[in-house]
Amino acid sequence: MNEIIEYFDHTQYKQARPSYPPKVFEIIAKHLKCLPVKNIVDVGCGSGQASFGLLNYGEHVLGIDLSPVQIQGAREEILRRKIDPNRIDFQISGSNAIPVEDHSVDLLTVAQAIHWFDLEEFYKEAKRVLVPGGSAAIWCYDMARVMNNDTVERAFSNLHSGILKNYWTKHRELVDNGYKDLNPPFKHVERFQAILEHSTDIEGLLVYIGTWSSVHEYKKAHPDQDCCADLKKVLDACAPDTVFQLQSTIHMLLVRD
Ligand SMILES: C[S@@+](CC[C@H](N)C(=O)[O-])C[C@H]1O[C@@H](n2cnc3c(N)ncnc32)[C@H](O)[C@@H]1O
Repeated sequence: MNEIIEYFDHTQYKQARPSYPPKVFEIIAKHLKCLPVKNIVDVGCGSGQASFGLLNYGEHVLGIDLSPVQIQGAREEILRRKIDPNRIDFQISGSNAIPVEDHSVDLLTVAQAIHWFDLEEFYKEAKRVLVPGGSAAIWCYDMARVMNNDTVERAFSNLHSGILKNYWTKHRELVDNGYKDLNPPFKHVERFQAILEHSTDIEGLLVYIGTWSSVHEYKKAHPDQDCCADLKKVLDACAPDTVFQLQSTIHMLLVRD
């Protein structure tokens, strides 16, 4: 299996990762000339964290991802949410081979995923599939902060920036920098920020952490050690029904030729 896909080919991602707030879609909608657009493709869609929110802005949404487990999770969501299957589809496919005709896509979205792609290949493919004047919205969110518990925030921060510091892949640098170093080869590039908030309980926080690529790498290097041991001690002192408020900043680029 592709090394990158190994990080995401599990059901915990769907369980733990947030979908996006209305603000993200409002920023995109303001940028589009007329709504709804005809075709939207969400590349590296995961289990649909952004794809379902895009249904309000397009007649049809296609989500593609290399991970079979993520695509399966997204397809299950179509049924669970009772969405007309003519409006949304998910396919296993790579960012270098978007399964649509030339110049047929009005809006491409890439949520928390472009840092995993071969950028040159993806940009070439984006230009092939976008209609003249079509747009791409590309965003990431930076490391979450635990807003309502300083002790847990300290242990959480020590985990991602201390214990796991050397286990993040090089792809992470782009995210840590808020995609400042991402320079898509389009004539018009605008940058926006929004806030991403979500709440989770103790188990949810540990599942969320388990979706980090750095945890995967740490386990490979130290199969007998638990990188979360210190954090778990702090969590043990919390009431079992504690709910944590997590907050990140979303960094978005809206681009078109
Ligand atoms: C961090 S997840 C983001 C998922 C979702 N878009 C979200 O906002 O949570 C990155 C996703 O990109 C997918 N991915 C990585 N490289 C890819 C590529 N070259 N082509 C398509 N999908 C890719 C992974 O399988 C994973 O589901």
